[in-house]
Amino acid sequence: MIPSIADSRPLEERLARRTARMGANAIREILKVASQPGMVSLAGGLPAPESFPLEIIRTLADDVLAEQGAAALQYNATEGYGPLREALVPFLAARGVETGIDGITVFSGSQGVLDTMAKVLISTGDVIAIESPSYLGAISAFNAYEPNYVSVATDEDGVIPEDLARLLDEHPVKLLYLVPTFQNPTGRTLSLARRKAVAELLRAHDVLLLEDDPYSSLRYEGEALPPIHAFAPEHVVYTSTFSKVLAPGLRLGFSVAPTDLARWLVIAKQGVDLHTNTYGQAIAAAYLAEGHLAAHLPHILDLYRPRRDALLGAMDTYAPPGWRWSRPAGGMFLWAEGPAELDVLGLYERCVAGGIAFVPGQFFFANGGGETTMRLNFTSAEAPVLERAVSEIMRTAAAMSDGVSAAVPVPA
Ligand SMILES: Cc1ncc(COP(=O)(O)O)c(C=O)c1O
Repeated sequence: MIPSIADSRPLEERLARRTARMGANAIREILKVASQPGMVSLAGGLPAPESFPLEIIRTLADDVLAEQGAAALQYNATEGYGPLREALVPFLAARGVETGIDGITVFSGSQGVLDTMAKVLISTGDVIAIESPSYLGAISAFNAYEPNYVSVATDEDGVIPEDLARLLDEHPVKLLYLVPTFQNPTGRTLSLARRKAVAELLRAHDVLLLEDDPYSSLRYEGEALPPIHAFAPEHVVYTSTFSKVLAPGLRLGFSVAPTDLARWLVIAKQGVDLHTNTYGQAIAAAYLAEGHLAAHLPHILDLYRPRRDALLGAMDTYAPPGWRWSRPAGGMFLWAEGPAELDVLGLYERCVAGGIAFVPGQFFFANGGGETTMRLNFTSAEAPVLERAVSEIMRTAAAMSDGVSAAVPVPA
């Protein structure tokens, strides 16, 4: 039996004060339920395993060992593996992020960037402005540094600049955190005009933005938009990841920061893990530099686009009157809002009992709200499964609003 820590003192007395802000979040519990055998899950945020370029990775893994031998398995620079940072410069430029190699730091996932940014910038009580709703993993990372949050209002075009301006006037905001493209959880994208307006506000108020961009490569239609970084590079730390275009298990993300701040990110990272794994970085460097990403990305888009279309089509067909939902041009999520009287937690419980999971949207709001919303993932299940799941969720929702107790059958 594994013993628990000596019980002479309550555990809370042993733990650092910051742990008071570090509770397990509700979504983790939902994902546990959603991953039970037989569950049809629209809850998770996982890329489809069939999107991983297994054969390419196998070849590159062999090539790296053959060409670099033990060096690929040796300790390496905290900033990141040189060839990967070099390959990232043109990759980022194509996205509109202009930087030299010195601005780039490789992290163990963009989650590592979120944590390190807060570690370097946030003292207890400092104010972070976040979108409402926002990516919960960021809030979990930030919480350990005991910030206070203020929420910026959003609509279909992302954060509302007038509301951001008001917040920046009223609060000493130290850091703004945004996911401007195909946001998690809403799938929404900040319009070009608003990107420029946000950049102007950053300059006018001399505030730093952490621009989190895991999803912009997953665009199924329309023209790419420049990142906010393009309009105010001195006020933006940009982060992205290989998780959605290669494989999340490799844990590879990166930041682009003004060089003086990049130095601090490196110092902080050194204390955490010395550096991100060399072997994975060497594989990713070859994946970029040899053109494999450019060749493989269309396959990922061709896999996800019909799934998004199926989910949207099912919403059009099955959502009862009074529902609204986003029409994401990319990413992994659709955001739906039911009528005012809808009990989404009750709907969630009934659906889970019937073998279908989604995430009630209220958990993505740091300061309350969103009680009638939900997040639906469309990358992890095939189109017919998504259609069946939406039809059952909506049938159950309609039955609830009719006051009828619906028994939800487990879909085949
Ligand atoms: C908005 C956002 N930021 C960051 C991450 C973390 O990604 P990574 O795997 O690069 O740590 C995710 C993961 O889903 C995400 O949705």
